Amino acid sequence: MNFSLRSRALLLGLLLAGGGAAMAADGAPKASPSTAMAQRPGHAGIASANFMATNAGFEVLAKGGNAFDAAVAVASTLSVVEPESSGIGGGFMATLHIAKGNRNVFIDAREMAPMAVNPKDYLNPDGTPNRDTALKGPLSAGIPGEPAGLALLAKRYGKLPLSVSLAPAIRIARDGFKPDPRLLGSIKEEQKNLERWPASAAKFLPNGQPPATGEIWRDPDQAHTWELIAEQGDAGFYRGETAQKLVDAVHAAGGNWTLQDLANYRAKERTPITVDYRGYQIVTAPPPSSGGVAIAEILNILRGYDLAQMDQAHRVHYIVEAMRRAFRDHNDYLGDPDFVKMPLDMLLSPYYADGLRQSILPDQATPSSMLPHGPAQDPGMHTTHFSIIDKDGNMVGITSTVNYILGSTFVAKGTGVLLNDEMDDFALVPNKPNVYGLLGSKANAPEGGKRMLSSMSPSIVIGKDRSAVIGSPGGSTIITQVLEGILHFIDGQSAQQIAADKRFHHQFLPDVVDVEDGVFDAATSDSLRKMGYTLKPREAWGFMNVVTWDHRDNKLDAASDPRRPSGLGKVE
Ligand code: GLY
Repeated sequence: MNFSLRSRALLLGLLLAGGGAAMAADGAPKASPSTAMAQRPGHAGIASANFMATNAGFEVLAKGGNAFDAAVAVASTLSVVEPESSGIGGGFMATLHIAKGNRNVFIDAREMAPMAVNPKDYLNPDGTPNRDTALKGPLSAGIPGEPAGLALLAKRYGKLPLSVSLAPAIRIARDGFKPDPRLLGSIKEEQKNLERWPASAAKFLPNGQPPATGEIWRDPDQAHTWELIAEQGDAGFYRGETAQKLVDAVHAAGGNWTLQDLANYRAKERTPITVDYRGYQIVTAPPPSSGGVAIAEILNILRGYDLAQMDQAHRVHYIVEAMRRAFRDHNDYLGDPDFVKMPLDMLLSPYYADGLRQSILPDQATPSSMLPHGPAQDPGMHTTHFSIIDKDGNMVGITSTVNYILGSTFVAKGTGVLLNDEMDDFALVPNKPNVYGLLGSKANAPEGGKRMLSSMSPSIVIGKDRSAVIGSPGGSTIITQVLEGILHFIDGQSAQQIAADKRFHHQFLPDVVDVEDGVFDAATSDSLRKMGYTLKPREAWGFMNVVTWDHRDNKLDAASDPRRPSGLGKVE
């Protein structure tokens, strides 16, 4: 039975006939106005994956910065102390709420393919996918977006010069720090790959080995590159000395970047996706992230149910069925909005969600094989998210990544820049999965200058009484983690509870529900199995960082995921 395809076609017809939301000129949906918020908390909250990064944010706030200056400090410090997850050679997506003028903004600092991208580079001579070029070395790296994104954030929304907001990262890189066990473990895991490139080995394997536990580790080359950015803005990275070193190193190792690719890179402001749910406005990531579209579609489906009145098994059943349908669409349609036309009006329409809801049976799982076929994604963990609310009520969530663990493992000589391996987030080879199991459609095929699809979903939830900034790493599980975080927040949970909540995940294919130990009691698991679900136990995933704001007493709360000891949520 292909009821969903039929209903999709029918609904598209209805929408073309006059229903649905308008499409903005840039292809992104128009934002709805922000829920009014006249107060200010009077103090600030930051939650990030590393205590040095959280403290760097507070250092910059103490110098007179706002949330956006603090975000520059947190992101650049994470580049130094958590390079396995994000950094100067990667990219990010940021959702901002600007208190003055009550505006919501999205910054796309996603990497882009170099103009000379050649899909054949990702194939072996026999036509099978070459996983090495997709994931390691300079061919796996997109043109970084992080420096341009931070420069834009500081210039348009910050109060301080980059020389102040980048100072903590520069100091820590120059003076050194003790890497935490997660970074040491990542270096050990990737030692063989790091040894392939002399500059990677020089950075991560001093004396030929990963740093010892407790040893001070320094990165003077990265400190120098951040100093150039502090002096010159993004020109310190995309032009001149750094650009030349990046292009030389990439070429010497078989890559295809040009100076023009770097000079052409721009971080872009896009209209965020906004969706209203149970009296809250959720502001989240538009394409080239798939996250916001999927979250909006799921919430639009769920708004038709009274989840609070259901037992846990039925609540989970409807949430999983909504996830299943949203992931099917995410896989089928989404890509870089500057390159592909996407049916966003349809995907975000409440009428479309009504149609999808009709296809959900009350006590039975819909096998994914009964829905029109789409590709699959598996989770990955090597990304980072942080959340900030400042004393004036500015809010920012940034999810930042170099993609897989330690990105491409390729460091460009003389720069300290570890390049991402984000090219693997394109559908490089038709019908062959990427590292997350993603097959992808033509919408996400690689093209020169195009940005690869992401799951990053930094989200801001704005309500009359309470607001929150929520996000997490975790590949495709980012979307379901953030969704569950939003639902828990709207149910009244604290930042600590939201970060700690047990998780479940469904992504259309494979057709299983990933379950964290303890998420369901025995009776719920039993009921779900009887409805036809396959429950697959999985080791804990995610690294959620949440800041909440109660407008009634202006109290902030910040929490870092208790599953990962290096994080710090702090209010001052
Ligand atoms: N590289 C993971 C993501 O952007 O979703």
